[in-house]
Amino acid sequence: MARINSVAELEELRKGILSKIEPDKPCIAICAGIACLGLGNDRVISAFEEEIRKQSLETKVDIRATGCHGFCEKGPIVVIYPEEICYLEVTPEDVPEIITQTVVGKKVIDRLIYTDPNTGAKAVHQFEIPFYKNQSRLLIGNNPKINPKSIEDYLAIGGYSALAKALFAMNPEQVLEEIKKANLRGRGGGGFPAGSKWETTRNAPGEEKYVIVNAHEGEPGAFMDRALFTGNPHLVLEGLIIGAYTIGSHQGFIYTRHDTPQLRENIDIALSEAKEYGLLGKNILGSGFNFNVEVHLDVGIFVSGESSALMRSIEGKAPEPRPKYIRTSVSGIWNKPSNLNNVETWANVPQIINNGSKWYSSIGTERSKGTKLISLSGNICNTGVVEVPMGTSLKEIIYNFGGGIPNGKKLKAVHFGGPMGGSIPESLIDSPLDFDVLSKLGTSLGAGDMLVLDEDNCMVEVARYFLDFLSGESCGKCVPCREGIRQMLKILTDITDGKGKEGDIELLEEIAGVVGEAALCSLGRSVPKPLLSMLKYFRDEYEAHIKDKRCPALFCKELKKGEL
Ligand SMILES: Cc1cc2nc3c(=O)[nH]c(=O)nc-3n(C[C@H](O)[C@H](O)[C@H](O)COP(=O)(O)O)c2cc1C
Repeated sequence: MARINSVAELEELRKGILSKIEPDKPCIAICAGIACLGLGNDRVISAFEEEIRKQSLETKVDIRATGCHGFCEKGPIVVIYPEEICYLEVTPEDVPEIITQTVVGKKVIDRLIYTDPNTGAKAVHQFEIPFYKNQSRLLIGNNPKINPKSIEDYLAIGGYSALAKALFAMNPEQVLEEIKKANLRGRGGGGFPAGSKWETTRNAPGEEKYVIVNAHEGEPGAFMDRALFTGNPHLVLEGLIIGAYTIGSHQGFIYTRHDTPQLRENIDIALSEAKEYGLLGKNILGSGFNFNVEVHLDVGIFVSGESSALMRSIEGKAPEPRPKYIRTSVSGIWNKPSNLNNVETWANVPQIINNGSKWYSSIGTERSKGTKLISLSGNICNTGVVEVPMGTSLKEIIYNFGGGIPNGKKLKAVHFGGPMGGSIPESLIDSPLDFDVLSKLGTSLGAGDMLVLDEDNCMVEVARYFLDFLSGESCGKCVPCREGIRQMLKILTDITDGKGKEGDIELLEEIAGVVGEAALCSLGRSVPKPLLSMLKYFRDEYEAHIKDKRCPALFCKELKKGEL
């Protein structure tokens, strides 16, 4: 492919790609997301390839291995276009029948479509399945429609039109204004306004500036960034290039994990394709703007997702955070101004540029705009990735998309943000998905990992689990975090072992207060959050463990059973 040198050439290429698409030609889209991979989708893909060869249908049927479709609970998922018939839990043994009956014979196979476990109602098409119905899949909805290894698939759905618009119809100040007006808030946990951060880096002294994608996603229970980036890498890349143009950066970095080979492969392919097509490198689309991207891998520790630690890691040093009074936006990688945003934050940028800030800010609540990807896990019927407008109630997420709590159990709590977040009780599930509302309640939206807990979960054990995780993940640089976590973990372990003492709760609160105040980085400063939220809403459970030596959830083995 010759490189594209102008917007006219980009549109010409897009037209050419679209003209080759035969809308009536059957296409089998097989989810190749990480959950479906674990459920054996590679064998399903091979079975389809073999059956198509066997039935000599190579020229009549297309196959597409796609990114995550979101409904992880029911994988491997197969969608057959153009009808969009959706089959769930597909096995290699189902494949010959799917080809003969559905692809060739245009008949629906009843046993493979969605059946509501409560009502028995069936759904043939993906968009009719309760899990998908009423989601606003603005970011992840394209996953089933594209092969993430094909830039042409991304161009066919309008890819890189926002970049062309930004480079040729807007100057950097206008792009910045649009992002600020959209009130795009960072999706990595803090909810910091992206426009303000971009502006700080743009205005910081120095010619050399960097832009970075934080694709570390080390939080237990978080899997939405991976689903989005693996499934649609060009979307994130397009957002990054627009950000670089706005900020005045010519070098970008993608920081990701060493243990996600599928994500790495798709990123590498996207980068080399974009380079080949003239969307990266020198003189992008003939605009005179130059920008390159490098991929860096982590060393397998949770704290390397923290902004300053991540930047040290890119420099080739140990991923240790530094005090927050030095802002990475002004002094980041090699002390140059560096703008870091989360995967989902960058992915929002192209749609804001294409549709405008007015459109974007019409979605969501007053101060939390757009949609949010949620990775839904725990005691929930439908584990998976959900995308909903900000403001959607937690209840809707749990019951409409998540399908409720399995095995007739009662919902007890919802925990956001993993070890740096908090839990709220069932009585608050009418609360909206909103950065500020959740933070006022004592939790935080975090990166969007929503852990659903039923009545069998012990809230002392949940706090103990998160501290156990963090005790291995603190970098150890500052004493409050290193020693504080260890002490809190010891006390909580004693409580769950039936060795809790009067005064333990107060001691935990005191240590939590010191760690939260004195730790060097947000990891240490967030350590108290899960525990304090649980003491706010579930203090009686802690007291029952200590005073009565009882675990109300009947979880802790060393303790007497019994209700409060
Ligand atoms: C211990 C720790 C781990 C973090 N891990 C991630 C991560 O994996 N991905 C991410 O986007 N942000 C992570 N963050 C938040 C980043 O420091 C930073 O705020 C974020 O990437 C900024 O992007 P945003 O403004 O688009 O949200 C982490 C923070 C801490 C304290």
